[in-house]
Amino acid sequence: MLSTADNEMLTQVGKGTPMGELMRRYWLPVMPVEELGGPDCDPQRFRLLGEDLIVFRDSNGDVGVFSETCPHRGASLFYGRNEQGGLRCVYHGWKYDVTGQCVDMPNEPGESNFKDKIRAWAYRGAIHGGVVWAYLGEGEPPGLPDFEWTVMPEEQRNFSLAQRACNWMQGLEGDIDTSHLFFLHGRLDPDGSGNIGVWHNDKHPTLEVVPTKYGVVYGANREENEETTYWRITQFLFPVFTFFPAAPGGTVPGHMWVPMDDHHTMVWTVSWHPTQNIADSRRFGVLGNATHPAGELLPDTAGGLGRFRPRANKTNDYEIDRGRQRTETFTGIATVFLQDQAVTESMGPVQNRSIEHLGRSDGMIIQVRRRLLNAAKALHYDNVTPPCVDNPEWYRVRSAIGTLPKGESWYEHMHDWLYAKVDEPPALELAVPR
Ligand code: FES
Ligand SMILES: [Fe+2]
Repeated sequence: MLSTADNEMLTQVGKGTPMGELMRRYWLPVMPVEELGGPDCDPQRFRLLGEDLIVFRDSNGDVGVFSETCPHRGASLFYGRNEQGGLRCVYHGWKYDVTGQCVDMPNEPGESNFKDKIRAWAYRGAIHGGVVWAYLGEGEPPGLPDFEWTVMPEEQRNFSLAQRACNWMQGLEGDIDTSHLFFLHGRLDPDGSGNIGVWHNDKHPTLEVVPTKYGVVYGANREENEETTYWRITQFLFPVFTFFPAAPGGTVPGHMWVPMDDHHTMVWTVSWHPTQNIADSRRFGVLGNATHPAGELLPDTAGGLGRFRPRANKTNDYEIDRGRQRTETFTGIATVFLQDQAVTESMGPVQNRSIEHLGRSDGMIIQVRRRLLNAAKALHYDNVTPPCVDNPEWYRVRSAIGTLPKGESWYEHMHDWLYAKVDEPPALELAVPR
């Protein structure tokens, strides 16, 4: 449970809010490079931290990130012409280079130097690991985050994007909440008895939560049998990144919970393999070449919130199938991603955390909230640089699943895999079939 004031501080990311200022100290992902295109591509809209922005690439391929509003008289630069070396507003023809500098002002007298004094509201953009990133802070940006997937050949990684109509932290908390797994995402017994239990018999995992320099990690322990324990290890990294455990095989999945505004989040699902080409078995396709985890997407509409919206959504109750809910799955909602989407959106645009009741299974959520709030307060009141900003190499971590002999330390056993020192996942011998 949080006070109303702390709940607001945790969730609000507009300019001038403590968490908004914290977010503005990091590079945040905008869209896959493949979505944006190459040099002189069409400008595209997106909303980030409550700001309506456009992104484009100039003739050199450099990325421009502007406020959508033209500094002349406020027309949308989305309609701009992406010309040689800059973007030209279609209203009166003012043209800006990627830094925002006005480089041409054809409706003013030739001898005027007015254009030298005008800048579009521009932020820094960059391309890194197949992703377009934006830095909405002031001053020199930090190094780009050094996730393992950013240095993979593109055949070894994959992205998908989906919009979630709720606050970013609400979505993120679902990833660090292991106990929901075998309920929300559970399947019913094959005999149709209605008892869940196909995934795991132990329904109340014990969490070992460990604070780290980059965020928080936990090992969730479930009893397998007399001799072994089943561990699921999930990472949280400042400020919006999670890696959750995958099925064995060495592919690591994660999410980036990018706050579009206080009530909308762009959820990136990233998965990668340290050594293998996964291009042919991509589970998560953003570009129409594979199954999207949210199922079918709606056609794009104009505006900063018009893209990557699942067809199954709140307006149609996520296409819940009550027949399947009786006989097959716990929810009757089609995919794991949509199951998470339904429950987190159902909590409202911003969950009221002052009336919740947290149990022992919520230990990781409690820790992550505390770390985020402490970091936001330390930055706001004492100008303390938040974690990872000065250390982009701290992002080089993974999640894991493993079954270990009882009493063995998951942190020690998995350590070299978790910190990308080895490329073979830890041994996994499952006692419970799933
Ligand atoms: S409003 Fe953009 S050039 Fe006039
Ligand atoms: Fe989930």
